[in-house]
Amino acid sequence: MSALATEHHAINLAQGFPEFPVSETLIELVYHYMVKGHNQYAPMPGLLRLRERIAEKIATQYLKKVNPETEITITAGATEGLYTTIAALVRPGDEVVILEPAYDSYIPAILLQGGIPVTVAMNRDFSVDWPAVEEKVSPKTRMIIVNTPHNPSGMVFSAEDWQQLSNIVQKHGIWVLSDEVYEHIIFDGLQHQSVLRYEALARHCVAVFSFGKTFHATGWKVGYVVASAALTQEIRKAHQYLQFSVHTPTQYALADFLENENHYTSLGSFYQKKRDLFLRHMQTLPFQPLKAKGTYFQLFSYKNYTDFPDRQFANYLTREAKVASIPISVFYQDKTDHHYLRFCFAKHDETLIQAAHFLSQFL
Ligand SMILES: Cc1ncc(COP(=O)(O)O)c(C=O)c1O
Repeated sequence: MSALATEHHAINLAQGFPEFPVSETLIELVYHYMVKGHNQYAPMPGLLRLRERIAEKIATQYLKKVNPETEITITAGATEGLYTTIAALVRPGDEVVILEPAYDSYIPAILLQGGIPVTVAMNRDFSVDWPAVEEKVSPKTRMIIVNTPHNPSGMVFSAEDWQQLSNIVQKHGIWVLSDEVYEHIIFDGLQHQSVLRYEALARHCVAVFSFGKTFHATGWKVGYVVASAALTQEIRKAHQYLQFSVHTPTQYALADFLENENHYTSLGSFYQKKRDLFLRHMQTLPFQPLKAKGTYFQLFSYKNYTDFPDRQFANYLTREAKVASIPISVFYQDKTDHHYLRFCFAKHDETLIQAAHFLSQFL
C-alpha cells in the first residue's frame, strides 16, 4: 500500500510509523557515544546498564522484579525478539495458536521452524473468544501468541482476558508469547495489562517490547525480550546466531535516556488527542469507527457504504481519494473480509485533517 500511495501521491495512512521527530537529547546521546568510541560489538544479551534501566522500568510499571542479567535480552527490534523466541521454542510439528487478525510476522516465523500455525478468529468486536481458543489447543500445542494493545484492531486485553488465558496455559502447559510493542499507547484512562503482571504466568511467558514505538524511532530497530532465566537461556541461543548483538551507541544512549526522561508516560495522551482529532474529522464520512483503545491505528467499517472487497476498496481510495489505508483481510490467513480499513494516525494534525478532507470530498 505504501508503494501504491507513493505512485498515486496519496497520503500514506497505511504503514504504521510515526511522523514525529526523535528527541534531540536522545539523538545527541547516540552521537556522544559514537564520538566517545563505543562503536564495537555490544555484549550478546545487550548492554547491562540498559538492561538494568529496563528492569527498573518494569518494576515501576508492572510491579514485577526481573533479573537484568538473566531475564532481559536486547534485540534488533521486536521483530527479531519475536522471531528469535519462536526459533528457540518451536520445533517441527509443534502447533502455535494465533489470534486473527494477526500481525504479519508471526505466521512466517512459525512456518520457517516447521511449526503449524493454528488460527482462531477474534469476535466481530475484536474481543477474544476464549472457549474457541481452548478448543484449538491440542497435545501438540506449544505456544500461543497474543498482542495487546492489538494491531490492527486497537483493542486491549482486560484483566479478565489474562485470567482466561492463564487458566488455559496452566491447564495445558503451553507458553505465551506476548507482543506488547504498543504498551505505552493506550487511551481513556486504561492501563496496559502486561503479561508480566501475572505471577501465575511467570514461568510460561515471553514478553516482547520495542523502543521504536515508544521513542518515535522505528528505524532504529531496538527492542527487548523478557522471560524467565530458563527460557531466556534458550532464546539467547537463537539470538546469538541470528543477530549476536544490537547497535552499541544506541544502547548506551537509551540507557541514559531511560534514566533521566520518562517521555513514554505522556505517549498515551499524545496519541489519544490524535485519535480524537482524526475521529472528529472523519465523522461526516459514511464509515463507522471502532474506537481504538490503544495503538496508533483506527479501524473504520465501510459495510454500510459498499460491499466492495476491502483490498479493492483500499486500492480504490488510494488511487482516487488519495488516502492509503490497510485492508484488514490481509491480517487473516484465509483473507476473511468484514469490510474494515485500518488508518494509522501517528501523523501530524494537518496530515490527518487533510486525509479526512480528501475522503469526505470523494465519498
Ligand atoms: C504488533 C507488532 N509487533 C511487532 C512489531 C515490530 O516492531 P519492531 O519495529 O520493533 O521490530 C510491530 C510493528 O509494526 C507491530 O505492530
